[in-house]
Amino acid sequence: MLAPWQQASEWPDRIVVTFEGDPATSLSVNWRTAASVTATRAEIAPALPDARFDQQAVSAAAQSEQVSLATLELAGIQIPIEQNAGLSPAGFHSVRFDGLEPDTLYAYRVQGAEGKWSEWFHTRTAPLSGPIRFIYLGDAQNGIDSHFPRVVRAAFQKAPDARFILHAGDLVNRASRDLEWAQWFRASGFIHGMVPAIPVTGNHEYDRHGLTEEDRQRALSILWRPQFRLPVDETLSAELHETVYDVRYSQDLHVFVLNTNSPDMAEQARWLDAKLAASDATWRVITGHHPVFSSGRDRDNPRVRDVILPVLLKHRVDLVLQGHDHTYARGTVGEDPQTPARRAATGADGVTTMFVNSVSGAKQYNFSENGWDEYAPTGVELNRQAENTQFYQIISLDAGALHYTAYTADGQLYDEFRLTKDQDGSKTIAPETPGLPETRSFTNTLPYSGVQN
Ligand SMILES: [Fe+2]
Repeated sequence: MLAPWQQASEWPDRIVVTFEGDPATSLSVNWRTAASVTATRAEIAPALPDARFDQQAVSAAAQSEQVSLATLELAGIQIPIEQNAGLSPAGFHSVRFDGLEPDTLYAYRVQGAEGKWSEWFHTRTAPLSGPIRFIYLGDAQNGIDSHFPRVVRAAFQKAPDARFILHAGDLVNRASRDLEWAQWFRASGFIHGMVPAIPVTGNHEYDRHGLTEEDRQRALSILWRPQFRLPVDETLSAELHETVYDVRYSQDLHVFVLNTNSPDMAEQARWLDAKLAASDATWRVITGHHPVFSSGRDRDNPRVRDVILPVLLKHRVDLVLQGHDHTYARGTVGEDPQTPARRAATGADGVTTMFVNSVSGAKQYNFSENGWDEYAPTGVELNRQAENTQFYQIISLDAGALHYTAYTADGQLYDEFRLTKDQDGSKTIAPETPGLPETRSFTNTLPYSGVQN
């Protein structure tokens, strides 16, 4: 099945901002056209109040590539992608604007064929430091065209000044199926052009291709790298490029993205350990798709937990944002044993690391029967949970405090915590917010049945 608005044309579409360089001084912009557009460009100008701000625009040539959508090359063999049958190749373009001023509003536009321009989009570079907020979304994956749009739009409405949207994997259900990406871009529309994306690869960003059942191989979505210009860390194996990266957003926030699809997470654990040791940012946030502590019934990822959890706790990472389990779960590993005296002195609970699993799309799983009890030996405690509910999260922070909020799709506050950080790096958590809604579960919500896409 193909949708009429899915086909690429000479006009630019699927416009999304990403971070490749320093977010304070650069912006990367990605867009798509028909493959007939082989060379094009983008323009950028400071966003002045003057109607003709555009007269100060500077132009940058795009990097362009043609992507065959209906076939995939694996080990030199062309393999048909049946889900994309009938789709012509597309042109994917990107520009990285450099030399920008920090915390400054810019206007940019992108071109398809000569003279065929997008509208001007406003987007803001990162501040060197100071208060910011961002949006975090769990799996969209199912009902991308029907049930996910209301969530991402509600999140944008709640935090229109969000500096970026972190998508914690399973953005789509079938990795290389162009229709689902068309739906994903349509769900957020112009939001992607204004609020940069930090995309994470989930298991559904990979699928299996082969001419015969025996030689089917797992491959990253053919669209991932062409449509998201992301940092290439040369210290990592080539297959991890643009799926494992970090974004040092400001002095106050450093984000580290893992690809938890790797059968062996040791390389990423070493990378993360070295990166965290070198990071001087106040708050360090890790994101990866498969959760360290599972909340879906009969699901567990010891492959991730065994090697990644020790690194997270060693560096006292503040927040871990995940997806995969199609439930909501948030829990804490408390203060490490060195500081009980401090806890006694302040009367507040200390925190080492906070973990969250969330879901933004339609698919919903049962929560594990015994919560996170089986993980008790690690020191983690489950603080809040939900089933059968779509969520978005808004996280605000500055040098002294981090305020986390989770909202249901209709904008009700469902979960919240506030962390403060002292000069010595120790964190305390404010007492629980009173008056939050009762725990949502399959027993007290509308009957659930699966959603097709
Ligand atoms: Fe998922």
